[in-house]
Amino acid sequence: MKQFTVHAQSGPYAVCCQRGALARLGALLSTLEEKSSVFLLSSPRVFRYWGRAVIAGLREVKPAQRILFDDREEAKNLRAVEQLCRALARAGADRRSLIVALGGGVVGDVAGFVAASYARGVRIVHLPTTLVAQLDSAIGGKTGVNLPEGKNLVGAFYPPRLVVADPQVLRTLPTRQFCSGLYEVIKYAVIGDEMLFHFLERALEDLRRQKPAALDWVLERCIRAKVEIVSRDERESGLRQILNFGHTVGHALEAATNYRRFLHGEAVGWGIIASARISVEIGKLPTAHAERIHRLVRRVGKLPAVPAIPTRKLAAHLLTDKKAVGGKIRMVLARQIGQVEILPEVPLEVVIRAVRGLSEKSQ
Ligand SMILES: NC(=O)c1ccc[n+]([C@@H]2O[C@H](COP(=O)([O-])OP(=O)(O)OC[C@H]3O[C@@H](n4cnc5c(N)ncnc54)[C@H](O)[C@@H]3O)[C@@H](O)[C@H]2O)c1
Ligand SMILES: [Zn+2]
Repeated sequence: MKQFTVHAQSGPYAVCCQRGALARLGALLSTLEEKSSVFLLSSPRVFRYWGRAVIAGLREVKPAQRILFDDREEAKNLRAVEQLCRALARAGADRRSLIVALGGGVVGDVAGFVAASYARGVRIVHLPTTLVAQLDSAIGGKTGVNLPEGKNLVGAFYPPRLVVADPQVLRTLPTRQFCSGLYEVIKYAVIGDEMLFHFLERALEDLRRQKPAALDWVLERCIRAKVEIVSRDERESGLRQILNFGHTVGHALEAATNYRRFLHGEAVGWGIIASARISVEIGKLPTAHAERIHRLVRRVGKLPAVPAIPTRKLAAHLLTDKKAVGGKIRMVLARQIGQVEILPEVPLEVVIRAVRGLSEKSQ
């Protein structure tokens, strides 16, 4: 079992990564202090695949009550939080209860925020079931929901007590969802892991087919990176910002297409290509490196095309990004594969030109 420790301000917690770990959930959870009751929060779809195994594992600790909710992005809102809190109250949850969240990023973000708020905070364990959730969203304590005015606008930093990532559960994930997570893997490689980048160039096909040797190695490497980064900068005051590589353009593409055209990772895939191009233009990244990044991203799968977005609209979305100040955009750019830096003042027109280039590449 690979185990990593996140050093959060509220105390350390473990991230376990191993094939078959869900079957040993009982043993893993018995390390947590006494709990009055256990609640499994999940979605009907995820529960259908993996719920029974988890319920069986939990039984060794304490029989769990299940509460299922809609995990579509449209349902990631305050209403869901209220409904879940009320369901917990009706079921008699108290401050010593434990929430176990089984699902992708939506389940984890909503259940995490519920755990942060219910009775002013109850303990939570994450069992992430998508690639994105295993290597990113379940680690680091960011939780929250969307408002009509914007994504993830209401939330809290609320670290879990334990994260258990079992690569086996990714088997049932639709291919498009799995590939969406692979763009985040490429992000990890570009921001700090040249060896991972080489590996991806060599073994992308094995990874796409979820060959255990490739998948488990990559997962462990990305999890280790995320654990190290959030341990050093939990509140995103500096270092953690490098995880936004590819996300400034990615978020703008998602918002400009009303979150319907791209999965998050797909928008990040385009964002990585655009950021590599901007990195070249601003003189930081050798062209050959940008070309390798571009090729690797395109090998993952077919990205939905980038439509022509009116300049005004695109500019508005780029500038409303939390990282924009005064017509200049704060961006993470690459110096070489495996090394990035944060540039506080990238001119808007350079970014817009790069996004225009993506529409051409889509044809
Ligand atoms: N908190 C963070 O740090 C952070 C980081 C990245 C993303 N996020 C959030 O995560 C969300 C996206 O999460 P996601 O990419 O994990 O997708 P998701 O949670 O939207 O899940 C995608 C789909 O896959 C299904 N699914 C999940 N696991 C499955 C499995 N093992 N087998 C079959 N189907 C399965 C879900 O039911 C859903 O239909 C976004 O809301 C995003 O804002 C948060
Ligand atoms: Zn992301």
